[in-house]
Amino acid sequence: MLKTINLSKSFNRETDNEINLFNNFNIEIEKNKCTAIIGPNGCGKSTLLNIIGGSVMADEGQIILNNRDISSLREEERAIYIGRVYQSPSMGVSPSLTILENMALADKKGEKFSLRPLVKKDRIPKYIELLKDLDLGLENKLNTKVKYLSGGQRQSLSLIMAAMKYPELLLLDEHTAALDPKTSQVVMKKTKELIEKYKITTIMISHNMRDAIEYSDRIIMLDKGEIVLDKPSWEITERELINIYSEKIVA
Ligand SMILES: Nc1ncnc2c1ncn2[C@@H]1O[C@H](COP(=O)(O)OP(=O)(O)OP(=O)(O)O)[C@@H](O)[C@H]1O
Ligand SMILES: [Mg+2]
Repeated sequence: MLKTINLSKSFNRETDNEINLFNNFNIEIEKNKCTAIIGPNGCGKSTLLNIIGGSVMADEGQIILNNRDISSLREEERAIYIGRVYQSPSMGVSPSLTILENMALADKKGEKFSLRPLVKKDRIPKYIELLKDLDLGLENKLNTKVKYLSGGQRQSLSLIMAAMKYPELLLLDEHTAALDPKTSQVVMKKTKELIEKYKITTIMISHNMRDAIEYSDRIIMLDKGEIVLDKPSWEITERELINIYSEKIVA
């Protein structure tokens, strides 16, 4: 389980551009569930994931992951427990390396730096098994550089790389937003299969209400750094979400 305790975060403190985003923000994310975070542009969704992942430090408060206080760990240290997939297909993978090299790099996460060759031959069958799960034929392109893959192929690869070491938490920040509608659905389905197969606790940011309802167990809506809705996904419809947006947020 992930828990934040009294998180506070401001940007540009004591300037004219000061943004007080979170003020004593508390949230609990259940284990082995997929929680969707929705809310308007600028409400703090990515910042919350960045604070949890460690690329942005909170001004105050704690982050507890499975009873361990990770608040003071650096991003690289948290990466042992936390996998991430970003919105841009160019992040989360190394475009000039091959599929095989990318997977080997993800496999080394948390290990000490060593001069041994990057790819360990005995791990290749594991990579092939994970790639086959994607159904995109990437297992036949192990030596292809990732820069030659399509956005959907890259996001799918990013996903299995983030999940490969069975992270305690997976953070998805609009990971299908840059994809065409059909590819986006393919990647969403793969995401669901993967997190269910490996029982990975997931937080998924999305602007797509239908995806948020269909692919998550719980929906949290943020507005100006506060939770304005928190419900099981099966209890809410797309229409209701759109209405809440216009009533609570745009109004
Ligand atoms: N590093 C930063 N420096 C200054 N301001 C920042 C920084 N990061 C985020 N902000 C500000 O904090 C607010 C929340 O940004 P954030 O990226 O978390 O929003 P979001 O909910 O993810 O929006 P979107 O839906 O557009 O991705 C915005 O006003 C943004 O400009
Ligand atoms: Mg964002």
